[in-house]
Amino acid sequence: MDTRIIVRKALENGLVVPAFNIPHPPMLKAIVQAVVDENSVAMIQVARLEWEKFEAGSLENIADEYAKYAVEGHTLLHLDHVPVIDEDHKEVDYLPIIQRAINAGYGSVMVDASRLDLEGNINATRAVAELAHAAGIPVEAELGAVMGHETSQQAIPYEEIFAKKMGFTKVDEAVKFVRESECDWLSVAVGSVHGAIADNLLDKKKPAAKLDVEHIETLRNALNIPLVLHGGSGIENDYITRGIKAGIAKINVGTELRQPYERAMREKNDVEYARECVYTRCRELIRDFLHTADDAKILY
Ligand code: 13P
Ligand code: ZN
Repeated sequence: MDTRIIVRKALENGLVVPAFNIPHPPMLKAIVQAVVDENSVAMIQVARLEWEKFEAGSLENIADEYAKYAVEGHTLLHLDHVPVIDEDHKEVDYLPIIQRAINAGYGSVMVDASRLDLEGNINATRAVAELAHAAGIPVEAELGAVMGHETSQQAIPYEEIFAKKMGFTKVDEAVKFVRESECDWLSVAVGSVHGAIADNLLDKKKPAAKLDVEHIETLRNALNIPLVLHGGSGIENDYITRGIKAGIAKINVGTELRQPYERAMREKNDVEYARECVYTRCRELIRDFLHTADDAKILY
């Protein structure tokens, strides 16, 4: 399956490819089963912080788990956030991580240089694009600030972030960024926030986020590439539907499945039970929230 073509098809058909995060490896089997049983197409993805701060182990570990359960026609493997500067403000040696993902068979990769200035972000993204394109796979980049991962920013109330459009992706910068960085998909800041990863917030409900749908439309018309929405958990349903029609072709969902898994493990310490909880929630998300049930017919 060619990930680039599938995401492009999603954009052209007003559909979305969900990308589900795997902070705990046993979640993967349950998510794949939910995707197949809903006749959907979705990415399985892991971010660096999920092997640094959760139980993913490594990107190779998730690739091995994926190889056991992947179903052709339904699943794709994506490398999520490889930050250039991480959530603790440390520099990351990002190119070797991207190379490892290419070697491990990932179908697409993300570099997140959004903590750098525009030129720095362009340069880092272009270096990744050169590596990835030589291997024949697409690159996702981020421009603007999808809030939530940094502990220092969690003090700002959500309504203030949205009202002041804090960190939102600027259209003129995005046009320059896409042209010069050669990225294939762009993660945009349009109102969503990341599920918090700070210890004291791990099990807290996310604030119900909104989306600036007009801004999504403007970006889509200016850029004409698939847009990616991060922080997909906890957004009001109507915004999701309208956001997808406006140009969101990939949506990242982490917290919505991580929390049921962790809760189930706390409750019974039984991996099979935790998998059942993830499976049930994932099917609900596909059917009622993302509306991607039966998309395999169109996207594949
Ligand atoms: P949520 O945990 O808020 O769904 O965000 C997921 C994400 O953006 C992963 O990159
Ligand atoms: Zn994200």
